Amino acid sequence: MTLRTIDSLGPLAGKRVVVRCDLNVPLRDGVITDDGRVRASVPTITTLVAQGARVIVVSHLGRPDGAPDAKYSLAPVAARLGELLDRSVGFATDTVGSDAAAKVAALGDGEVLVLENLRFNAGETSKNEAERTAFAGELAEFADAVVSDGFGVVHRKQASVYELEQLRPSAAGLLIAAELDVLDRLTENPERPYAVVLGGSKVSDKLGVIAHLLPRVDALLIGGGMLFTFLAATGHKVGSSLLESDQIETVQGYLTEAAERGVDIVLPTDVVVAASFSADADHVVAAADSIEATPFGASGLGLDIGPETATAFADRIRGSKTVFWNGPMGVFELAPFAAGTRVVAEALTEVDGLSVVGGGDSAAAVRQLGFEDDQFGHISTGGGASLEFLEGKKLPGLEVLGWQ
Ligand code: 3PG
Repeated sequence: MTLRTIDSLGPLAGKRVVVRCDLNVPLRDGVITDDGRVRASVPTITTLVAQGARVIVVSHLGRPDGAPDAKYSLAPVAARLGELLDRSVGFATDTVGSDAAAKVAALGDGEVLVLENLRFNAGETSKNEAERTAFAGELAEFADAVVSDGFGVVHRKQASVYELEQLRPSAAGLLIAAELDVLDRLTENPERPYAVVLGGSKVSDKLGVIAHLLPRVDALLIGGGMLFTFLAATGHKVGSSLLESDQIETVQGYLTEAAERGVDIVLPTDVVVAASFSADADHVVAAADSIEATPFGASGLGLDIGPETATAFADRIRGSKTVFWNGPMGVFELAPFAAGTRVVAEALTEVDGLSVVGGGDSAAAVRQLGFEDDQFGHISTGGGASLEFLEGKKLPGLEVLGWQ
């Protein structure tokens, strides 16, 4: 089965359509620092507005504890959505309470209303199915139809992602359809050579995806904090760099499997080692097998891949026809440790084929480093969701829309 599309919902003029978006954007002091997810939600909302639907947008933001918490309010997001749509967008200060009910009732055809953060309600993320269904039932009171478009959250079995879609006629929005189109190309006969670049801090977050990708790719390039567990697995000392000792054995298993399959796991040959975790820390480039030979000794912290590694990764990326990248190569937020991530991003923009940046930190990194979205084949809005998709897992928020 394939996804149910918006067309399957029939004419929507005058209908109340609840749209589940993922507007979980990074905020600093109430200001959105990366509005990529808001922009990605616009096509579906615009389509519904054009049909004369009464559009009720719902989303989570952050991980509040099932109760209102001002720092996770969607109010700034609603304001940004209004700017992007170039129309007035209403905002309800609760999700299913009296303000939401009054504003939904007053909504006109083609108008847009954003409800307050779904996760201010314990039922949204409850582990208890009956509690999730009860909350979904309250949301369903506002809906004649439901459009699910929050790709970044489809891996979560949560009330607005899974139960709500079963209570009303429901369909996938344009963002989910576009994301799946690209992710499908990564899994079904990707053009070769196919390289996957993995970074980010923890190898334990990536075990599933490494295991699933090993038989499918030509090369796996390892950077970010997780590289040190790989270096440790090949017998190197890593100073005070991030290390998950309990994963060393698993990583050794991957290295053996890769060698047997003829897959290249490309590890850094040099890294940037710093005296401490700060932008003005002393730092040097060290060979990957001599991290403790720097002036910082065993207290040295690896915070980025080195220039030789970055060049080798970039060559490998540019020589591939399909590239998926998830996770920064270093602590890109601190200028002295951003070069590895920048070089890798630059190489992705030069791929003669399909280049995909997988969500979350990597998307924030490329935008913060000044790249434009259209320099890449695709920037996914889902970090965890795209990884779980590539792991071959069944995602509840997609299954409920007919995807198999
Ligand atoms: C994300 O940022 O990956 C999604 O919005 C899901 O958020 P969550 O990890 O808090 O469920």
